[in-house]
Parts: sequence; C-alpha cells; structure tokens
Amino acid sequence: MSKKPWDGRFSEMTERSVEQFTSSIDVDKRLFSYDIDGSIAHCKMLAKMSIIKADEADVLIQGLGAIKREIDRGEFVFEDSLEDIHMHIEDRLTEHAGKAAQKLHTARSRNDQVALDVRMYLKDEVLNITKGLQELRRVIVKLAKDNTDIILPGYTHMQRGQPVLFAHHLMAYNEMFSRDAERLSDSLKRIDVMPLGSAALAGTTYPINREYTAELLNFSKVSGNSMDSVADRDFIIEFQAIASICMMHLSRISEELVIWSSSEFDFIELPDSFATGSSIMPQKKNPDVPELVRGKTGRVYGNLINVLTMMKALPLTYNRDMQEDKEPLFDTVGVLKACIGIYIEMLPRIQVNKDIMLKAASEGFLNATDFADYLVSKGMSFREAHDCAGKAVSFAIENKKELHELTLKELKGFSKTVKKEIFDLLTPEQMIERRKALGGTASENVKAAIKKAEKELAKRKKSKR
Ligand code: ARG
Repeated sequence: MSKKPWDGRFSEMTERSVEQFTSSIDVDKRLFSYDIDGSIAHCKMLAKMSIIKADEADVLIQGLGAIKREIDRGEFVFEDSLEDIHMHIEDRLTEHAGKAAQKLHTARSRNDQVALDVRMYLKDEVLNITKGLQELRRVIVKLAKDNTDIILPGYTHMQRGQPVLFAHHLMAYNEMFSRDAERLSDSLKRIDVMPLGSAALAGTTYPINREYTAELLNFSKVSGNSMDSVADRDFIIEFQAIASICMMHLSRISEELVIWSSSEFDFIELPDSFATGSSIMPQKKNPDVPELVRGKTGRVYGNLINVLTMMKALPLTYNRDMQEDKEPLFDTVGVLKACIGIYIEMLPRIQVNKDIMLKAASEGFLNATDFADYLVSKGMSFREAHDCAGKAVSFAIENKKELHELTLKELKGFSKTVKKEIFDLLTPEQMIERRKALGGTASENVKAAIKKAEKELAKRKKSKR
C-alpha cells in the first residue's frame, strides 16, 4: 500500500489486492517515451501561457529527460501500487524536481493523457506497419517479375478453373496489401488528433494553448469536444479492423503456401530454413511459418472483437473499462509486424516448381471455357456453346482424354463450325495470352501491372511513405 494522489478524500488505504487488480503498469509501461514527450510538451505550453514559471518548466523538463534515460537503461523500478505509467513518471519526477513536479498535472488529467499517449504510439506504429506493407509488396512484385513465364491453374471452389500466370496470382496479393496500406494511411487522419487539454472530461479553466501543444507534438489537428476526446477509442477499433483485414489477406496467402507445398500439389518448396521437421516422422517438412501466420489471424480478430465489446454501451466519458484497450492493441501491432516481417524474409526464397504447375494447368479441362468462347466466335449463343462444350467434356472424360486430345472429327460432332484452328486456342499459353481485356491474365497486362507497381513503390521509397 502506498500514498495516492486521491488520499485526501479517502479514509482507508487501498487494499493490496486492489492495487494488483487495477494496475496496468505491466502493459502500459511501453508507452513511457510518449508519456514523457507528451509531458514535456505540456510543460512548455504551461510555461508559454504563464501558468507555471519558466524556471519551474526547466526543472520539470530536465527531470522528465532524466527519467526517460533511467527507463531506457533499465534502472527504473515499476510497482503495482503506482498503477500506471502516468503515475510512475509523475511520482519519480517528485524525486527529481521536488515541489515543482506537483505542477505538471495542472490543466490535464490522466484521461486526456492516456488518450494522447496511445495516439502518439499508434501514429508511429501505423507508419511502421505501412512501411512494412510496402516492403512486402516490393518482395511480391519482384517475385512476380522474376517469374512471368510460369503458368498454374487458377481455382474457384478449390477446383481448377482456368490457367493463369503465377505472376498474375501474386499480383492479386499486391492489390490486397496496397489496399491495406491505403486504409492505414487514411486512418492516420483520425489518429493524428491531439486530445490533451480536454482534462478529465469538461475541458479546463486554465488559459491553455492546445494548438501549441499539438504543434510541439507534431499533431495536425486538435480535438474539438472534450468529452469525445477522453471517451473516444474509435481510432483503436479502426486500426484493429484494418489489421484484421490485413491478417485475413496474410492468412489467405498462408493457406495457399501450405496447400502448394503439400506433396499432393507440390507447386512450391519452402526454404528448409523456414520449415521444421517432425519429432517422429522423418520424412516431414512442415510449413510452420505460414501455418502460424494463419493461426495468429484468429488472435487479431479476437483483439478487434475484444475492444469493440469492451467499448459497447459505455456511457460517456472515460470509464476504467477502457484501460483494457491497450493489451489487445499492443498484441495486434506486434503480431502484424511479425507476420509481415517474416514474409518479407521468406517469400523471396520459395522455390517454384514450374513444370508441375504447368502440368496441372494442362489437365482437367481448363480449356472448356475457351472451347465455348470459340463456338461463340462462330455465331453460337454463349449458353448454347456452354452446353456444347459441357457435352464435349463429358465425352472426353468417357474416353479418358483431354479436350485438346480429341480429334477434329470428334470435336466437329459437337458443332460443325469447329475447324483445325481450334487446337491452337486450347493451349494454356494461348488461353492466357488471349485474356487481354483490362485486368486479365495476358502477359502484357501482368507486365504492365508489375511496372506500374514498381513505379509506385519506388516513388514511395523516395518519399519514405
Ligand atoms: N491507466 C488508465 C488507462 O489506461 C489511465 C487513465 C486513468 N484514469 C482514471 N480516471 N482512473 O485507462
């Protein structure tokens, strides 16, 4: 049990068990540098507005700097009785700055302070994650560029559908991660809002200058309503939602890597250094990295639902429930960064089994649509052509052949319009090259998409976004 800022009002000391139960220091101590930077800016503002004296501000700022160094060096002692990072730093400041430390909390409350710290933290992490995503896109685009001649079956319903370029398949992920990065950048607008000065909930009677604090802390905007400022956690939920979508994308590529590396598919081989063996089955090479990325997706979805549920129906303004927002937030940031990071390392090192992919794209009637399209070009309606091609497939199955292995005579049996030229159209290469309509898998489209992405990513690298 220790002294509390609210002792004046209380006749009993806080129970030890309550201190332990309510403490958040183990989780929120990682906000220390933001808390200190926020306090330094607050101090400067108080001095500028003559709410505290300049020499008091100097002592406070020096003390705060010293505390930062203590924490950095691992010398700072954290204890449950001081609840959270804000109280730890204020308490220690009394030892560094004496009586002046008691002025630091003028015109603010922990309610606006914690909102500030989390916003500062998330601004940094959103930028870090966005950079990670752009790097992941670079890796994907490079893999696509290095493999523009590889063909594999494209699937719907997990059944072979039509042949596509492997590079086209990869570039689909480039689109997904580009949307994720865009969503993150957009969300910054709503994170980059400075709440300090809202105080407990109603604002403050001191003549503060919130725009100045925002300027010092590099915020673009000052929050407009003191009650919303301390009650709002939308920006955390929005981040969790964006992270969930991004993890969903990562889980989809993970699933494909797991399937593709199975001996049933054998489309790719994962690097030995990114796989593990079995402790009992000597032949095994397990795709643990993609499996774990897939598995961690559940954790991130859970974190989204966690914060959404915690915030549900909370009356305005701050409620202690909201202290629970940080653990899932830090967890999601950590998981997302780790998953993006490991794929940046692993993807360039997968080995692609080109011949096996092509063989899979050459079997199983993947050219049935093109046969139907051919009949349409000869004047048949698509529905009729679809039926005709279906009959041809059924005939070929009975005769244990592929469509392109049927004779011209056999094909003519389904439509008299069929000519010898049909055989040129039924190869995977031709099927791909003929899909030139915008967004299709024709190699000229895919190469153009790669070029466009490369250009965009190079520009981003230059502007460090
Ligand atoms: N540790 C608290 C949190 O994370 C800080 C705000 C505390 N405010 C209060 N009125 N008890 O939410």
